[in-house]
Amino acid sequence: MTAELATIIDLIRYAASRFNAAGLTFGHSHDNAVDEATHLVLSSLHLPPDLPPAYGNARVTADEKVKILALVERRIETREPVAYLVGEAWFAGMRFKSDPRALVPRSPIAELIEDGFSPWLDGREVERALDLCTGSGCIGIAMAAHNPHWQVDITDINDDALALAGENIALHQLGGQIRALKSDLFIGLSGEHYNLIVSNPPYVTDAEYAALPGEYAHEPRLGLSAGADGLDLALRILRDAPEHLSEDGLLIVEVGESERALNALLPEVPFTWIEFKVGPMGVFALERRDLVEHAAAIRAAAARAG
Ligand SMILES: C[S@@+](CC[C@H](N)C(=O)[O-])C[C@H]1O[C@@H](n2cnc3c(N)ncnc32)[C@H](O)[C@@H]1O
Repeated sequence: MTAELATIIDLIRYAASRFNAAGLTFGHSHDNAVDEATHLVLSSLHLPPDLPPAYGNARVTADEKVKILALVERRIETREPVAYLVGEAWFAGMRFKSDPRALVPRSPIAELIEDGFSPWLDGREVERALDLCTGSGCIGIAMAAHNPHWQVDITDINDDALALAGENIALHQLGGQIRALKSDLFIGLSGEHYNLIVSNPPYVTDAEYAALPGEYAHEPRLGLSAGADGLDLALRILRDAPEHLSEDGLLIVEVGESERALNALLPEVPFTWIEFKVGPMGVFALERRDLVEHAAAIRAAAARAG
């Protein structure tokens, strides 16, 4: 049945058809079967995602075809995300090692990094930046690579995630620019100050987590779950960020679908909800001075969240 498949484009087309027929969920860096199939096939062949289309007609060897077809079947049977199957994902134009030690990189914050955080940084000088809840390290490492004069700290509470982030720092040879630290949010960062703090923390509600498709069960729950309203981590970040931001510092946090709950809980806080090329994605920007002005309300909300 697969004997007719000969070329790269044949295999991408076949994989995409099988994925659609199997009713897979696409939420890990891709939103459709063709992109996911392209990732699986090109990564398996050690080829870049921007391979010129003419190579689609190149034939694969028998061994390559066996390997790719086995991964297509595994994707369908186990629901493992493609990034874990092939061991790599692309984020902000960079390659990252990806495996179950940390979430598959997919944050829309990649677009902000590639755009130089314009207009949010508004010409401000950044010397030190922090990526809180770094997982694979993708946000902090991409920030460092795109801004060679920034010193970047990346933190996570999970040793496995930090080990993977360390491998990604080495992959991009950015050890001189990045410090990887173990910390429960800001607890291990006493006395540290940053011009920019960026975070994609866990923000999935308990109810949403229970209903997630099988693909997400392969990712560490610690990277997704954030309590009844998905705001357990975000509220602690809002409460403690002013201590660690420079006077004119900027905080950027992704809360996804929990945007509504956050707006309802703190209606007086002037969150700027960022518009991405694809539309709003539940990422806010907030100035330190606004955090300070609304500190009492934020503290009360954070206390309620526990
Ligand atoms: C949504 S993942 C994001 C990972 C990465 N920033 C990305 O965009 O792919 C959240 C990360 O937060 C970490 N985390 C969870 N609770 C934490 C805490 N209390 N302090 C620091 N990191 C935490 C998890 O281990 C996980 O790696």
